Amino acid sequence: MAAPSWWQRGAIYQVYPRSFADGNGDGVGDLLGLREHLDHLTDLHVEAVWLSPVFPSPMADFGYDVADFCDVDPLFGTLADLDQLIADCHERGIRVILDWVPNHTSDRHPWFLASRSARDDPMRDWYVWRDGSPDGRPPNDWRSEFGAVGPAWTYDPDTGQWYLHSYTPQQPDLNWDNPQVEAAMHDVVRFWLGRGVDGLRIDALQRLAKDPLLRSNAGAARRHDQDWETAHDRLRRIRRVVDEYRGRIIVGEVYLLDLPRVLAYLQGGDQLHLAHNFVFLHLPWDAVAFRSGIDGFQTLAEPDAWPAWFLGNHDHSRIDTRYDDGDSGPARARAVALMLTALRGTPFLYQGDELGLPDAEIPPDQVVDVDGRDPERSPIPWRPPSVAGPGAGFTTGTPWLPLVEAAERLCVERQAADPRSTLSLVRRLAALRAASPILQTGEQRMLDAGPDVLAWLRTLGSERLLAAVNFATEPRPLLGEDVPDGRCAVLLSTDPGRTDLSVTAGACELRRFTLQPSEAVLLRLLDDDTAQ
Ligand code: NOJ
Repeated sequence: MAAPSWWQRGAIYQVYPRSFADGNGDGVGDLLGLREHLDHLTDLHVEAVWLSPVFPSPMADFGYDVADFCDVDPLFGTLADLDQLIADCHERGIRVILDWVPNHTSDRHPWFLASRSARDDPMRDWYVWRDGSPDGRPPNDWRSEFGAVGPAWTYDPDTGQWYLHSYTPQQPDLNWDNPQVEAAMHDVVRFWLGRGVDGLRIDALQRLAKDPLLRSNAGAARRHDQDWETAHDRLRRIRRVVDEYRGRIIVGEVYLLDLPRVLAYLQGGDQLHLAHNFVFLHLPWDAVAFRSGIDGFQTLAEPDAWPAWFLGNHDHSRIDTRYDDGDSGPARARAVALMLTALRGTPFLYQGDELGLPDAEIPPDQVVDVDGRDPERSPIPWRPPSVAGPGAGFTTGTPWLPLVEAAERLCVERQAADPRSTLSLVRRLAALRAASPILQTGEQRMLDAGPDVLAWLRTLGSERLLAAVNFATEPRPLLGEDVPDGRCAVLLSTDPGRTDLSVTAGACELRRFTLQPSEAVLLRLLDDDTAQ
């Protein structure tokens, strides 16, 4: 493989700006706070930072309801602050990816205000307006993605029609069947790429194309409210705009739990560069399930399609909580960190996963999200509360969401000082990947290595690394014909108790290697003639 592109080399780190760092003491994270903590990103060797939306917004969906695509919400700072952030990141060799939310706007966006003002307004058709059924029900049976919202339609008494919203009623869906909408959204892409942004994460890409006849889902062989055939040409036209600028990328949130349908958005080299694979995110903690998730991409994707591996974001319960087995601490979150780093593909890291943060407890009177996603959006604890106060270095004010209970132990400052911490492990993993072409571009072959063990071989020239994850809570040996014969040295282990770390003198036989409970390891194969 040729030299990797920047977006293939190392991790893309997701910042959820509200919860990263608060620079002005109002309890909500902002661009100033982020700029003050860029060392954290440098220490994690991230290739790029992806910012969840910072655009002007009434915050009905915490920024995913955009009222102006080309500015910054005062809560986060100014456009000049964002320019400065981009410059600061570039100076450090960190690329910047912004969140582009093309499926919908805020109901306060001037386009929607015009559209809802009258049936004959020139912008009426920029959104999806329909008459209801004669008995007063919505135009069809489509439901909002958020269970608590119910129908995906809201009645507007002023003009006597219903408008479509795939999410909250404050997020009306744009009508992408209207070429003026498409052109206006292409201009938004040009605005940001022209400003020096390195890429865009496309929010809810699967929603960009729906059945233009708006037929109900019930009884249909497939859903009519998303993933319509027109999506792919629409995406190709977006890609052509992106390709007007050098070295820029688009990563798609393709929220479909059907791998071939997700991969369709990566096909042909003229659609996405990277796709978030939610099939992978929803896997149970089971070696066989992960094996088939990884094999699935390898066998179904086109050879040039590049995988993106991610297991956490701001919409899903934290890795440490989701895979919690009750008593192993963050062992599984640590194993995940090694897995994402060692798989062929681009790892995505959600802020706080490098600390092994669990979900926060949110008391009922502090719940703010319509869809139960507050626990994974809890602010980053930077410093011990015993020293920095209850804001834990995130804020000097009152944090907009409670911090995790274990902030004292899990905060960045404490973990940075402890070589056995999850943060230290993730930094070591990142440094290793940054220094190892084999981890960036080496070939990958999955191995049968015994029950509960997920193992794979990476090769580049004569170099070979074997990665293995023990999904069991008891020790498991590397077993079977597929495991190469010969000696190995432990390059990295996620088990803080392992003592033979980097003791090359103590190199051991690969086929006698035993993984500790929930341990993941990266082993260097020492004998050149053991290749399979
Ligand atoms: C996906 C985003 O990640 C989520 O936070 C948001 O609520 C929906 N898209 C709607 O924009």
